[in-house]
Amino acid sequence: MSDYSTMVDTVDGTVSRQIFVSENVYRDELEHLFSRAWLFVGHESQIPKPGDFFQSRMGEESVLLCRDRTGIIHVFLNTCRHRGMKVCRYDEGNTPLFTCPYHAWTFALDGKLVGVPMADKLYDGVLDRSRWGLIEVAQMANYKGAIFATWDSSAPSFETYLGEARSQLDIVLDCRDGRPGGSEVLSGIQKWVVPSNWKFGTENFMGDTYHNVSHRSVDLVGISPNARSGMKGRRSDEISGTEHVWFAYPEGHGIHSMVLPEENWYVEAFRDSPVVEEYFRHCYEERKKRLGPERSRWVGLVGSIFPNTSFHARQPRSLFVWHPHGPQTMEVWRFYLVDADAPAEVKDFLRHYYMRYSGPAGMTEQDDMENWNYATAASAGTIARRYPYNYQQSLHATRPGHFGSAPESTQITEQNSRNFYARWADYVSGRDWDALIGVRG
Ligand code: FES
Ligand SMILES: [Fe+2]
Repeated sequence: MSDYSTMVDTVDGTVSRQIFVSENVYRDELEHLFSRAWLFVGHESQIPKPGDFFQSRMGEESVLLCRDRTGIIHVFLNTCRHRGMKVCRYDEGNTPLFTCPYHAWTFALDGKLVGVPMADKLYDGVLDRSRWGLIEVAQMANYKGAIFATWDSSAPSFETYLGEARSQLDIVLDCRDGRPGGSEVLSGIQKWVVPSNWKFGTENFMGDTYHNVSHRSVDLVGISPNARSGMKGRRSDEISGTEHVWFAYPEGHGIHSMVLPEENWYVEAFRDSPVVEEYFRHCYEERKKRLGPERSRWVGLVGSIFPNTSFHARQPRSLFVWHPHGPQTMEVWRFYLVDADAPAEVKDFLRHYYMRYSGPAGMTEQDDMENWNYATAASAGTIARRYPYNYQQSLHATRPGHFGSAPESTQITEQNSRNFYARWADYVSGRDWDALIGVRG
């Protein structure tokens, strides 16, 4: 087993380029990281009824998120136990059964093998159907509607894995008025392929605030929900006056959040629609009452849950996954979130804003992809890959936990990335769960 700790130097602040371009490193990621870590699969709102399914991915592999006849949610590997054909080739839908297109073995929604053509004649009592059902994940968690799963039965519970990052993920998943959960995915998710290593996405969203300069053009154009009122920028200024905090969680997650001043009041952030403005004003007041003056000060911004799930907590509110496709290619999936019981006009307004901002045609997202594409290509050469990347920013500016127990910074920092790559090296080197979730030794 390789020891990857030599490729990540958190003392000097360097990371080897090999981990972004090498086929061998990539193979070890699939073997030791994606086969063990908790991964985001989808949202329960995508499969509300029995028989609903959504074809998702875990690492490189296709999986089926589905709801069985009794309403229980499952995650199965999308491969027939006979000769491996995908039992489902549709992105999403509703079905009573998964019938394999190759020889028609048929699986129930709970994964059981229930149909084998000519079974009596050809298998002569040899085939034990109970051994040949669909392969199910070792553990699954439904956290406020977000479905996470792992192939590792010895992995800690999802909540242990999440650790203190939980309170920040809550800001994404809870209703805008502070009720727990209650979000839904706007139907139809965006998927696109980017010629870049998947870790560029994770790293960018754990708090690379330094790259704001590359969004200069979209900020000049102005695409925020206040744009028609003449405001520039890609988000509203509802959060001006906040304190920025970067959290480097020991589990490998990294989050850039924001906390409002003690005295805070509603700032109009959706002036382009009176209905939406009224909705968010109401939510703000309700949230303050429900969560209390302290907790309601946290308004969230961006973050990455180890290893490849990121989020925008507010504008544009979404969860997204950087699926590995090879050392130098990833497939991005964006799931846009709204409050399930928000008025239709609010959902529609947000959908338009989300599309302006994010996805393959979103003006902000395009800037990011441009950087990652060229960075990957320019790092892959025989000579280029000999030289490490620099992660020395704010190397000594991290303080012990003040808001929680995770180390934090109140200035722009690469600490979250250093922390992420150190944890990444632990996984890819095959370290056990005590090392991965306990104190790094
Ligand atoms: S591969 Fe599925 S039935 Fe043969
Ligand atoms: Fe960006």
